[in-house]
Amino acid sequence: MSARAIVLAAGKGTRMRSARHKVLFDLCGRPMLWWVLEALRAAAIDDVVVVTNPELDADVAALGVRTVVQAEQLGTGHAVRVALDALAPSPGVVVVAYGDMPLVEPRVFEDVLAIVDGIAGTVLALATARMPLPSNFGRIVRSESGGVERIVEARDCTPDELGRDEMNAGIYAFYEPALRDAIVRIGAENAQREYYLTDTIALLVGGGHRVAPVSVGDYRTVLGVNDRVELANARRQINRRLCEQHMRAGVTIVDPAATWLDAGLQIGADTVILPGTTLSGTTTIGARCRLGPHSRIEASTVADDVEIAESVVVASSIGSRCTIGPFAHLRQGAFLAGGVHVGNFVEIKASTLAQGVKAGHLTYLGDATIGARTNVGAGTITCNFDGVRKNRTVIGEDAFIGSNSSLVAPIDVGDGAATGAGTVAIRDIEPGDKVAGNPGRSIVKRPAET
Ligand code: UD1
Ligand code: MG
Repeated sequence: MSARAIVLAAGKGTRMRSARHKVLFDLCGRPMLWWVLEALRAAAIDDVVVVTNPELDADVAALGVRTVVQAEQLGTGHAVRVALDALAPSPGVVVVAYGDMPLVEPRVFEDVLAIVDGIAGTVLALATARMPLPSNFGRIVRSESGGVERIVEARDCTPDELGRDEMNAGIYAFYEPALRDAIVRIGAENAQREYYLTDTIALLVGGGHRVAPVSVGDYRTVLGVNDRVELANARRQINRRLCEQHMRAGVTIVDPAATWLDAGLQIGADTVILPGTTLSGTTTIGARCRLGPHSRIEASTVADDVEIAESVVVASSIGSRCTIGPFAHLRQGAFLAGGVHVGNFVEIKASTLAQGVKAGHLTYLGDATIGARTNVGAGTITCNFDGVRKNRTVIGEDAFIGSNSSLVAPIDVGDGAATGAGTVAIRDIEPGDKVAGNPGRSIVKRPAET
C-alpha cells in the first residue's frame, strides 16, 4: 500500500519559554524537526507534509519539505484535518508523527506501516511504550479483552488512569479513508478545549475497526522535547548515536559523553578525539589526526596526521602534518599548508602560511601571506589595522622574523630577510636584508651578486 506522512509542528512550544519556535531548536547542527524528517526518509517514506503555523512556515519550507499552514492551533486532531484537507484523498496509509520527537528511530515507522492492511483488517497501528511515572504522555486504556479501547491525555486522566504506565508514543499509521472518516467526528470537550488526534482511537474502535498497538521497546527513543531539560537529553542521545557511528567507522573517541559532534561530519580512520572537543558545521577531518583535549573545530577542513590541542579553529583549512596549539586560535580564513607549526597563544586570521612555517609563541598574524619555511619569532605582531583599513603583510620564503617584531602593514618582507629582536619594521625589507631597531633600519645588506 502506498504510504505518506503528516508531521505536526505547528504548536507554539510554550514550555520552551522562547521567542524561537520549538521544532527549529538546534540539535547537533540540525533543527529538531530535521531529525524526524530524516527518520521518515530512512524508512523510505518520501511523500511528507509538515503542518506549520504562519510564523514558522518559511523556515520549515526551507528544509525542502512540503508544508501546510494551520492558522490557529486548535489541537493535534485539527492539525491532521488541515493537512488532509490539503491532500488529495488516497486509499493508502498515512503515517502521523510529531515534529518534537527527534529521537524516533526509522524502525518504528516501518513497524507500524507493516501492520495496516485496510478497511477489512487493521485500520490503525500505533506505537506504545511502557515508561516510568510520572509522565505527561497520553495513557493507553485497554478493554477487558486486552484490546486498545481509547487514549486519555494525562490532563484528562482519572487518578487510576494516571497510574497506568502504557503510553501513547505518538507515532501512528492510519488507513487513510478510516482516518478521514474519524477526524471530522472528534470534538473538543476536554481539559485543554482542543481537538485531540488521540480521540480518533475510540471512534475507530467504536466503529468496529481493528486498532493494533505496537510496542517500541526502548521508551527513550520516543521521548519528546517539550522543554529545555528534554532538549538537553535529546542532544545527549543524538550525540551518542553520532559518536557511535564514527567509532564504528574507525575513529577513536576517548569519552563520547565529553565529545560533541554535529551531523554530517567526515572524520578519517584512526583519528583520535580527546575529551572536551567539539566538531561542528561542515567540517572534514583527515585520517590519523589527534584532536583535543578541549578544542573547538568549526566549519573547517583538516588534512591527515594533524595534531590540534586545546585550540579553536574556525572557518580555516589545515594541511597535513600540521601541529596546532596548545592554546592557538585560527579564525576566518587561516590557510595552513603542510607541516606548519602554530604554538601557544598564536592567533591567525585571513592568512596563508606556506609549507613548514613556524609560529611557535605569542603571535598575531592577520591578513598575512608567509612563504615556505619562514620562522616567526615569539611575540611577532602583524600590525594590520591602521585605524581605518586592514593592510596586508607579505613575507617571503626562508625569512627569519626576530622575537617581538612588529611588522607595520602594508609591508613586504623579502625572501631570506631577517629582523632583529624588537624591530618595528615600517618599510619594506629587501630580500636577504637584515633590519633592526625602532624604526627598523637596515644593518646588514645582502651581499651584491657577483
Ligand atoms: C501528544 C499526544 C499524547 C502523546 C504525546 C507523545 C495528542 C492530543 N496527545 O501530546 O497522547 O503521548 O504527544 O509525545 O495528540 N501541534 C500542531 N498543532 C496543534 C497542536 C499541536 O501542529 O494545534 C503539534 C505540536 O507542534 C507538536 C505535536 O503536534 O509537535 C504534539 O503536540 P504537543 O502539544 O507536544 O502534544 P503532547 O502534549 O506532547
Ligand atoms: Mg509533545
